[in-house]
Amino acid sequence: MKTIEVLAVASEIYPLIKTGGLADVAGALPGALAEHGVAVRTLIPGYPAVTAAVKGARTVRAYEHLFGGPARLRSATASGLRLFILDAPHLYARPGSPYADEGGKDWRDNPQRFAALARVGADIGLGGATGYRPDIVHAHDWQAGLTAAYLHYDGGPRPGTVMSVHNLAFQGQFDAALLDDLGLPPQSFTPDGVEYYGGIGFLKAGLRLSDRLTTVSPSYAAEICTADGGMGLEGLLRGRADRLTGILNGVDTAVWNPAADPLIAAPYEAENLAGRTADRADLQHRFRLEPDPDATVFGVVSRLSWQKGLDLLLEALPALIAEGGQLALLGAGDDGLQRGFADAARAHPGRIGCIIGYDEATAHRIQAGADALLVPSRFEPCGLTQLCALRYGAVPVVARVGGLADTVIDASPMALAAGVATGVQFAPVNGPMLESAIRRTARLRRDRAIWKQVQANGMATDVSWRAPARRYAELYRAVIAERGG
Ligand code: ADP
Ligand code: GLC
Repeated sequence: MKTIEVLAVASEIYPLIKTGGLADVAGALPGALAEHGVAVRTLIPGYPAVTAAVKGARTVRAYEHLFGGPARLRSATASGLRLFILDAPHLYARPGSPYADEGGKDWRDNPQRFAALARVGADIGLGGATGYRPDIVHAHDWQAGLTAAYLHYDGGPRPGTVMSVHNLAFQGQFDAALLDDLGLPPQSFTPDGVEYYGGIGFLKAGLRLSDRLTTVSPSYAAEICTADGGMGLEGLLRGRADRLTGILNGVDTAVWNPAADPLIAAPYEAENLAGRTADRADLQHRFRLEPDPDATVFGVVSRLSWQKGLDLLLEALPALIAEGGQLALLGAGDDGLQRGFADAARAHPGRIGCIIGYDEATAHRIQAGADALLVPSRFEPCGLTQLCALRYGAVPVVARVGGLADTVIDASPMALAAGVATGVQFAPVNGPMLESAIRRTARLRRDRAIWKQVQANGMATDVSWRAPARRYAELYRAVIAERGG
């Protein structure tokens, strides 16, 4: 079979730069696709963290003027990833996150910063990096959304295009007055082009103009076609539902492997969880929780935002404590939530511990040491932490939405009788239902035999990229076949 060349365009990639699951996906999918005859190169912005980590990059194209300054397109391999790095200091060489300054305020020139990424993605797609011409350009999220628009309006032969939605809540919507600045022709400003509610929609443009659309779970693919989940894009998505596929994410099973995880206190395997007992004690110690073997230790690893429903957890904390539970929370984000959990930890020493911040090692320790992992999201395109939890034997307790609904089998009486349960689900997503899920989990854990079975089922679940990568490879082949390739 002929190797398919795919140019991925993404604003984050693990381990070089990460704010969320998008980076994990962009970092792990290329390796998994290699086994299916797909060779991926990824175009990313040259943020300071990226240029500092990547050595020996080679310039493959120079731009005298790219959205306000000179830029170089560089090619390099780093952490096993084949990369194109857009080195444009006027756009990316600044402190803060990829999207916002140190005070959390979005960069004013985000439209130009990510239009530049898309413009260069389109250029590479058209053969602009000498010696390389991809069969498919695969854009991830709004930051890469204009790639398909530039390819479309440039005219002429172009590669196939795929647009993936990781989170519809972030749409990249900007002022219509920028049209010319962004190098988009006047005729692109129509509902069939980049126009979106009177402005320019980056994600909208990608969803309108790409050959195929994907999102990261089958349930989320259905949800985004409804008024509740579509966030304004449901009409467009319903109209293109035959082009839209939900493909679940996986996790990098080399990075997330309890049998050989250098970040945890004691490794363990599904057949022998002795190490896990040590990891649980280590977690209690690090979060200053009482060394109580009977408490159900609930873990959280999350961005602290409305999406993740952690305000509901704040409401449910009295019930969690009344049930003899403990909480180990790692998260960063909204000020109000950060304060809420810090206050709760002060009010309930020994029962509630929280670490506010972003820390990979602590994330691994929570997965290895918590009895259960809470993910009470209001919506969740896929979610990766519940997949890690399955693999680490932390029983996931999740809202029945999006990818959470698709990846956890609720411990209902029937599923328990059939011996297939892997976690606990609750719906609708509100405080009282979360409380009852917490109670149900604590009760479940008191029955050691059942708990062991649920844990073992979770650990036996395939959360790797193997199956999803096959689906992406099939999708790429379908696009190529459709376009007569
Ligand atoms: P999202 O992308 O919406 O934030 P996902 O569950 O898809 O949610 O991915 C989140 C990723 O970020 C996971 O790899 C998770 O372990 C990691 N993560 C989230 N918050 C933190 C944190 N505070 N510290 C370390 N890792 C975190
Ligand atoms: C987004 C979603 C999350 C998903 C991740 C990777 O950040 O919020 O559910 O797992 O992207 O696809």
